[in-house]
Amino acid sequence: MVALDGLEVTAGRPALLEVAPVGIAEETDPSPLLLAEKVQKVYRTGRVVVHALIDLDLRVDAGEMVAVMGPSGCGKTTLLNCLSGLDSIDGGRVLIDGTDLFAMSDVERTSHRAANMGFVFQAFNLVPVFTAAENVELPLLLTGVAQQQARERAVEMLDRVGLKDRAEHRPGEMSGGEQQRVTIARALVAKPAIVWADEPTGALDTHMAQQVMDLLCRLNREERQTIVLVSHDPAVGERASRLVRMRDGRLESDGREVLTGVDGRGLRPDEQRPGAARAG
Ligand SMILES: Nc1ncnc2c1ncn2[C@@H]1O[C@H](COP(=O)(O)OP(=O)(O)O)[C@@H](O)[C@H]1O
Ligand SMILES: [Mg+2]
Repeated sequence: MVALDGLEVTAGRPALLEVAPVGIAEETDPSPLLLAEKVQKVYRTGRVVVHALIDLDLRVDAGEMVAVMGPSGCGKTTLLNCLSGLDSIDGGRVLIDGTDLFAMSDVERTSHRAANMGFVFQAFNLVPVFTAAENVELPLLLTGVAQQQARERAVEMLDRVGLKDRAEHRPGEMSGGEQQRVTIARALVAKPAIVWADEPTGALDTHMAQQVMDLLCRLNREERQTIVLVSHDPAVGERASRLVRMRDGRLESDGREVLTGVDGRGLRPDEQRPGAARAG
């Protein structure tokens, strides 16, 4: 039995809904972009031992927008840090496009991350003395792109997040929502394989949070940007194409058992609630 947004999928499921076999996605796309297998993470602080990730398996395909949801302290930030290689792991393995992240040296992993990953954090993490354009071009300059080309691509990326006219503004001269859109531009500018976002709307009011989620959804849809975000906020989770549920360091559900409508198309998470499905 699988629980999805309060809807329990069992033999007695609503007549409109069919459960698609889990194997279908695997058959059409045999090589996942990200494959985490039996990942373990243990924090030891003095005599306190916290098993933050326990036998964690996760697969993410190119083009997906996956939301990892769960209560505070369940291990979401640890998952993001470990699966992106920002932090080390204590067991298992993480493959990015078939490459074992933890078989690399620290130096290799750092340059792999710069070339293949973008990050969006709750606390925007922009360089305060840099303008928006200077912040966005930073990942390009770090990977050796020439100054003028980096600036052109940064301004173009700011345009794509609706902030071309803020290119010369410093973070302190922008709203929280605008600053987060700058970090999204910075995360995407080098065309990474995966963008990781940790509570991207956590520091924003409802309206700005919605704008940031609209932007992430649009970039996922229009540019097929793979995004993995973690959040405790249900309003964030329901916008993703797949919802992964986490509790106490383990995955409760990886959301791959998708519900399909009578016409065979996948249902969006908001359609998967019983009331919404009947109304549609
Ligand atoms: N650097 C650390 N040292 C020790 N314990 C940690 C550290 N980071 C997180 N933890 C613990 O690991 C667990 C998971 O934390 P975290 O991944 O931050 O959860 P979430 O992001 O879901 O709130 C919590 O019990 C937390 O206290
Ligand atoms: Mg966290």
